[in-house]
Amino acid sequence: MHKSSSDLISSKDALKIMRQRHSVRQYFNRPIEQQKREILNKTIEDINKISGLNLQIIYDEPKCLNNHKPGYGTMKGCNNYICMIGKKAPNRSEVMGYWGEILVLKAQELGLNTCWIGLITGKAKVKVKKGEKLKHLIAIGYGQNQGKQHKNKTITETLAFHSFSQDQIDIMSFMPSSTCLAHKKEKSIYKKGSKTILNNISTNNNLDSDLKANKKNLKKVVAVLKQKKPINENTIKVLESELNSCPVWFKNGYEACMLSPTSINQQQFLVVFDKEKEIACIADKGGILSKVDLGILKCQFELASGHKVF
Ligand SMILES: Cc1cc2nc3c(=O)[nH]c(=O)nc-3n(C[C@H](O)[C@H](O)[C@H](O)COP(=O)(O)O)c2cc1C
Repeated sequence: MHKSSSDLISSKDALKIMRQRHSVRQYFNRPIEQQKREILNKTIEDINKISGLNLQIIYDEPKCLNNHKPGYGTMKGCNNYICMIGKKAPNRSEVMGYWGEILVLKAQELGLNTCWIGLITGKAKVKVKKGEKLKHLIAIGYGQNQGKQHKNKTITETLAFHSFSQDQIDIMSFMPSSTCLAHKKEKSIYKKGSKTILNNISTNNNLDSDLKANKKNLKKVVAVLKQKKPINENTIKVLESELNSCPVWFKNGYEACMLSPTSINQQQFLVVFDKEKEIACIADKGGILSKVDLGILKCQFELASGHKVF
């Protein structure tokens, strides 16, 4: 029988592990013990069976990450990395995010540190089959530090309450799952679903159109994300008190999203909750690798809350 994400990480400890996890970029030259390698290898084997991905882990290979061109988040001393490989599929980035984050949390549980690497500049020592692509890496090893808590966006930018129509619920239910590569025929359902979720919900975010316009230019995107926006203290208070009255499972899920790693810490997501129907969904507001972020967010939400999120 195939395992599910909660068989790989215990939901009971999930939030604790998420609170401890931060990206780490400096590592000791200390090999990962055989016993831990076996656990990681077995987890990867299970994930590949469920997801259709072809993830691989490379140990004791210093060249790829340490030759990483200096720039955003240079890695030091890391000799191990997980290769995020998979064939083309409409939801490939999201599925990679979902299962990559399971491995990040598994590593944290084993006392190891990690860092997602979105854009690969070194040469990974891995065989990629025809039709598949190596998209991202995750550095893994013993960190020289435990990293630090990232800055968070405000609740007004990341949380909304909304009453879903039956049409919206139907569309969300038909969306390909974030745990398994979808068939290419499902591309239009995937695209339409993602758009419908966001277009019907007011986001309080006037940066979305700027981000879309600058999507291909990392420097401009970072500049847009750094812009200061006026914060409406009253809206914050209203949202905080609404969140307080939500069920504990939803509050845990939202906290897990705020703890999630996102590309350049962009946090371009909106967690949406229908209080009456008790349905939660996460909308992707777009940005560099935001679909990978979306998979990571859904993984963290589901593990911490024990509930499905659309
Ligand atoms: C999809 C993705 C790609 C990332 N790529 C890089 C990268 O190339 N280099 C790097 O140093 N950090 C990278 N990060 C790490 C983010 O910068 C980090 O997750 C974010 O700043 C939040 O910090 P935290 O992980 O410590 O919570 C990436 C994260 C994600 C989710």
